[in-house]
Amino acid sequence: MKKFWVETFGCQMNKLDSEQFSGELTLNGYTPATSQDDADVILFNTCSVREHAEQKVYSRGGILKHRKAKEPGLVIGILGCMAQQEREKILDHLPHVDLVAGPDQYKNLPALIEEARASSEAVLATRHTAFIPKFDRLAAPRENPWQAFILAMKGCDEMCSYCVVPRTRGREISKPIPEIVEEAKVLVGNGVLEITLLGQNITAYGEKEGKELADLVEAVAAIPGLKRLRFVTSHPHHATRRLFRDLHTLPNVMPQIHMPAQSGSDRLLAMMKRTYTCAEYLDIVAMAREECPGIEIASDFIVGFPTETDEDFAKTVALVEKVRFGYSFIFQYSPRPGTTAIRDLADDVPSAVKLRRNHELLALQEKIQLEKNTDRVGATVEVLVEGRSDRNAERWVGRGPDNRIVVFEGDGDFAGKVIPVRIGRATALTLYGDRVGEPAPVHA
Ligand code: SAH
Ligand code: SF4
Ligand code: F3S
Repeated sequence: MKKFWVETFGCQMNKLDSEQFSGELTLNGYTPATSQDDADVILFNTCSVREHAEQKVYSRGGILKHRKAKEPGLVIGILGCMAQQEREKILDHLPHVDLVAGPDQYKNLPALIEEARASSEAVLATRHTAFIPKFDRLAAPRENPWQAFILAMKGCDEMCSYCVVPRTRGREISKPIPEIVEEAKVLVGNGVLEITLLGQNITAYGEKEGKELADLVEAVAAIPGLKRLRFVTSHPHHATRRLFRDLHTLPNVMPQIHMPAQSGSDRLLAMMKRTYTCAEYLDIVAMAREECPGIEIASDFIVGFPTETDEDFAKTVALVEKVRFGYSFIFQYSPRPGTTAIRDLADDVPSAVKLRRNHELLALQEKIQLEKNTDRVGATVEVLVEGRSDRNAERWVGRGPDNRIVVFEGDGDFAGKVIPVRIGRATALTLYGDRVGEPAPVHA
């Protein structure tokens, strides 16, 4: 039996894709290899969003050159966003690669691998499809049995000037609600407690069909036995009052949203084509907090976008201070081929300045997180336990409803259970506490 090995880079979408095509491979006579050395097929599921992500893959792929020379039957595949974005260019850098396949090709992956094995030329498959293929959910392996992602929509129709995702993932297409509900029921029937609905622009879910994300969230939340429902990633301008109300009123919809602001400067937001001003973003935050008191809001920020001045950056700092995000991912601007930003704007912020702003914003965010986490000391939090801590096997790690990481000690097997934990101390990243009750009954 042929053995395959997958290495996954990038976002949760890629993680889900890897699960799904791994399932497809196992249904077609492949088994997972125990290591890369042991594999007949090596697949890199790649990310293109920043240059650094691509460089990693070029170096990981480059290492395999000698092995491929010794083992001509080995199949090396570059999948994912980089395959879609770079296409033939990958073969210039990595001439020993056998297969380049974009995200819309995975249903066909077993056949593509066979084609690549039989051919002396590299196989290139990067066509976008106008539909979302169906995968067998029970075949797709998952990291743990009680958490799962579901693809709710693919693609992105926004035109953020810096971003490759609309190119790598194509046009927005939403999966119909009944199909998602069916998928969710199968998962819940198999022990899944937490579902995360995925879309690059999930708040635009169903817009082309006259639906909205709240319709989907309400339908999935109604599935008996589903403990927790989340969704990512939310573009602020599609978020609706009804959606925020659902986060508050539906008990299994977690009061948390990842809604990137990107910048606090209106001048830069306009150049980024984000379609909102800083004041409008703050209005949306106010609406979210009105409808869902205590909602935890997370953001992404790009520092060092072309022409960003100290004043622009100060506006981003002010936004972070005002909103007090639960978490912020901070990225240094990276010019990407094929975007309008690389065409129209020089990457003129020196890397030392990008780095300084990155550190400054991160330090502020961590200070806010520490303050917010310290406020939780004494509170009791319902924790869905994900497993033992990597660093200390006596400790258990899970997440609260607001997605914060909670660690506690205890004898017994708590994995996959919902446990009440009283918080005793806090760092910027983690809440530490003690178990104060029995696991909540699962599938009640
Ligand atoms: N679809 C999601 C995520 C897109 S990529 C969303 O819109 O929220 C994740 C994050 O990477 C973006 O939110 C942005 O902050 C960052 N990013 C995207 N392109 C980038 C680039 N060219 N340089 C630096 N950061 C970038
Ligand atoms: Fe990229 Fe913007 Fe779409 Fe997010 S919303 S994937 S940042 S184009
Ligand atoms: Fe990267 Fe593609 Fe995700 S570019 S962030 S893997 S959608």
